[in-house]
Amino acid sequence: MIPPGVLRAGELVGLCGWLSAAVAMAWIPSALQATPVAPSQPFVLGALGMALLNGVSIGRRWRTCRRLQDAPQWTVPVAQVVERSRRAPDRQWLGRGFDWTPEHAQRMQRMLQAGAPMPAACTRLVDAVEPRSRPLFVDARALGSHTLVFGQTGTGKTRLAELLVTSFLARHADAVVLIIDPKGDRDLQALLARACRATGRPDALVMVHPAFPDRSVRFDPLRNFTRASSIATRITGLLPAAGQGDAFVQFAWRAINRVVEAMVYAGVRPSLASIRRCLEDDAHPLLAKALEAWEKARRMAPACARQAAGGTRRGDRFTHGRTRPAVLLEPRLAAAVARYRERVSTEPALREPAIDGLLSLVMHDPVHFSKMIQNVLPLLASLTAGTLGPLLSPDLSDASDRRPVFDARKVIDQRRCLYLGLDALTDPVVAGAIGAIVLADLAQVAGELFNDDDADAGAGPEPGLDPAPRRRVPVLVFVDEAAEVVNAPLLQLLNKARGAGFSICLAAQTVHDFEAKLGSAAAARMLLGNPGNLVALRTADLETQRFCAGSLAPVSVESLVHSRSSAIRSAFDDGDAASAIGVRRDRREVPLFAPEWLGLLPDLHYVARIAGGRTVKGELPRLHEPVQRRPSGDAGAGPGGRMRSAPGLPRAGFAR
Ligand SMILES: Nc1ncnc2c1ncn2[C@@H]1O[C@H](COP(=O)(O)OP(=O)(O)O)[C@@H](O)[C@H]1O
Ligand SMILES: [Mg+2]
Repeated sequence: MIPPGVLRAGELVGLCGWLSAAVAMAWIPSALQATPVAPSQPFVLGALGMALLNGVSIGRRWRTCRRLQDAPQWTVPVAQVVERSRRAPDRQWLGRGFDWTPEHAQRMQRMLQAGAPMPAACTRLVDAVEPRSRPLFVDARALGSHTLVFGQTGTGKTRLAELLVTSFLARHADAVVLIIDPKGDRDLQALLARACRATGRPDALVMVHPAFPDRSVRFDPLRNFTRASSIATRITGLLPAAGQGDAFVQFAWRAINRVVEAMVYAGVRPSLASIRRCLEDDAHPLLAKALEAWEKARRMAPACARQAAGGTRRGDRFTHGRTRPAVLLEPRLAAAVARYRERVSTEPALREPAIDGLLSLVMHDPVHFSKMIQNVLPLLASLTAGTLGPLLSPDLSDASDRRPVFDARKVIDQRRCLYLGLDALTDPVVAGAIGAIVLADLAQVAGELFNDDDADAGAGPEPGLDPAPRRRVPVLVFVDEAAEVVNAPLLQLLNKARGAGFSICLAAQTVHDFEAKLGSAAAARMLLGNPGNLVALRTADLETQRFCAGSLAPVSVESLVHSRSSAIRSAFDDGDAASAIGVRRDRREVPLFAPEWLGLLPDLHYVARIAGGRTVKGELPRLHEPVQRRPSGDAGAGPGGRMRSAPGLPRAGFAR
């Protein structure tokens, strides 16, 4: 089977034509038994020579295309990456490739203009512009500027994650890695486990995965907060972007804020489940606890809490305003409320905003209240239903659940590697919401770490002591299908994380995914403009191609323009016709990498803009753990079967 793009009509016609000519010249004179006017051998040989030239050209292209098609996958042992990354901790290995320069853009342009063989087999055309591929290294600090990865399914996003995560863990002995996987890519979990093993930290791995609740740890996404309002923002931020500004969202925000304020005041740890309970069922026990705390603080006898918490009787009718229906309170709770109101009416200084807020929420018309929070309740219900309940709203008093409880701060403090897998959830909205709320927790921690740094810097060294700079924990966050979890906290995370020493890598398929999730192109551009590094794998989406290519600086390339003109003058002129043929050099502004070329990249090939101004074209390897030595001695064969050594990785040292 001849691969497409091998045969060109001109060459084929040439080959057949010269062969026919050679045969004709050799056969016709003898067939006609005519005396040749000239010796025919030189002409026959000439025609055969021309046919040979055409044949060689076709054959060479065919061989190249076959070789490219059959190119075995480039695999590299994971241990080799670990060893080399440890040896040169200031560099990040990105496979093999070269710096893409205007010269390459020009060569590519010329090859395309010359009609170089295109489709399927020859998508490696992009590589053909630079046959000398070398190990590709970039400054490891560039990762701190965050990275955006675009590529359609199967192009190498996960392989890039593998390379980044493995080298990151190898470079820093105390590195923290978080992988958020909203759509489910089993490879991501496996690669994190492999990277942990290869770097000697198999125990660092923790997993949150609703599909495997037994093997999963519990994660409290509301653990870290400085103000009650940040929890309200975190939860309402999960609602669809279109509704952010509407009255329902604002009402839900106020209601959650009041509940959380009261919880904080009463010393109750807010969780998704407890907030849902207060909004949906009953905020009375919380009100009783808050009043008990208030009375304790005022050294009054706590009269109501115990009974109110367990009480089912509802007696005293509280009217709130003229038009609203009455709200029934358990008598002791009603008495406590009455005491509170009486006391603060005489001593307004004793008024407690957290209690006032919760009181107004409790006294709200229940029918109107449930209507107003109808958008947030289904979300809270889905985040607390089934196995997700104990997983995301850990109950520390439940002795039967022995799974450890983690949160973003604990993951960082304990130097863990967390995999958050959400592919088991049938509802992608819920999966996205969990990813987003975990990122919000992380954004909070990033802010705290950033502020800690600022406080340290402000304090300065103590007299007589050497200034000991506080070492930031190296944190790498990889978010696959990032558009699924994008929200305001992610943007904050991108902004704060730089200062806190986080490196964030967002992988997605198209720009449109971000626009759809954020509600506008402008909001998407704000997010996409943040990361300093951009890695573009193959993408067929026009908008994404344009975005990626547009992120590279345009260059001016030179091309030869052939012109031909002819004119017939009127009979009144002296001359009757004129023609001109000209060739001129033309300089044009073209993208360093044209958008449509991104559609030509083979799997695992990429073009990247690296923070600091470099543009590189590279190929990613697939990492593998060598199989244990077998008696047959074929221990070198990896799980992928066919394999080659790692030519892209230098044998020693990291010099480029
Ligand atoms: N285990 C494997 N065996 C063989 N090929 C693989 C394996 N994993 C990945 N690949 C190759 O790497 C390419 C990129 O895969 P991947 O990084 O998972 O893509 P993405 O994450 O962008 O969907 C695939 O198209 C496939 O050709
Ligand atoms: Mg993937």
